[in-house]
Amino acid sequence: MTCTAEAYVPRTRDLGELAEAARSCRGCDLYRDADQTVFGEGAARAPMMLVGEQPGDQEDRQGRPFVGPAGKLLDEALAAADIDRGRLYVTNAVKHFKFTRTSGTRRIHKTPSRTEVVACRPWLFAEITSVEPQVVVLLGATAAQALLGSGFRLTAHRGEELRLPTDPDLGVDPSVVTTTHPSAILRGPAEQRATKFDALVADLQFAAGLVSG
Ligand code: URA
Ligand code: SF4
Repeated sequence: MTCTAEAYVPRTRDLGELAEAARSCRGCDLYRDADQTVFGEGAARAPMMLVGEQPGDQEDRQGRPFVGPAGKLLDEALAAADIDRGRLYVTNAVKHFKFTRTSGTRRIHKTPSRTEVVACRPWLFAEITSVEPQVVVLLGATAAQALLGSGFRLTAHRGEELRLPTDPDLGVDPSVVTTTHPSAILRGPAEQRATKFDALVADLQFAAGLVSG
């Protein structure tokens, strides 16, 4: 069986309809163990869109993107960059939480496979087509590789204005900026945290600077 969300994505640009349809997506196996679909949310015509990897434990419980520890760090970075989250659209490359259980009840994040990322991508394309952002910020390697190809190396393209590969289905051509995922800052060595945080803030400011008007 091919793994893709395609058959579940309605032909609409209405974000509410997309989010509703995504609740019953069975495009890959990740829906089985997660609590719920975590669709993107935010301003319907946001000039800037942020794309993370996948919901984490808190996001899965609450059904909203970036509301856990990574979301808190993201909020701090946005505040430092003087960007209002209310004017953004925030989503993830993969809409269901992938995890393993430890001996207790703790659910540990597991990186989604390439197959799962590609399966879920029609939702992300639909969100980009609907929101028509001027700038898309890809947070971390999973989001970057979802849209720029599996060979894309995050560290080689910091602070660059990139574009998406030409896709006639997309109908839009936003600028693209890639940067560190907030979780990578949280998980990384404490002594590097401040430097990495400052770099994330600088990348967000750079992206915001690409928005016109
Ligand atoms: N990490 C992500 O990539 N996305 C979220 O929504 C939360 C944590
Ligand atoms: Fe559908 Fe994406 Fe969830 Fe897989 S992860 S079931 S493709 S919404």
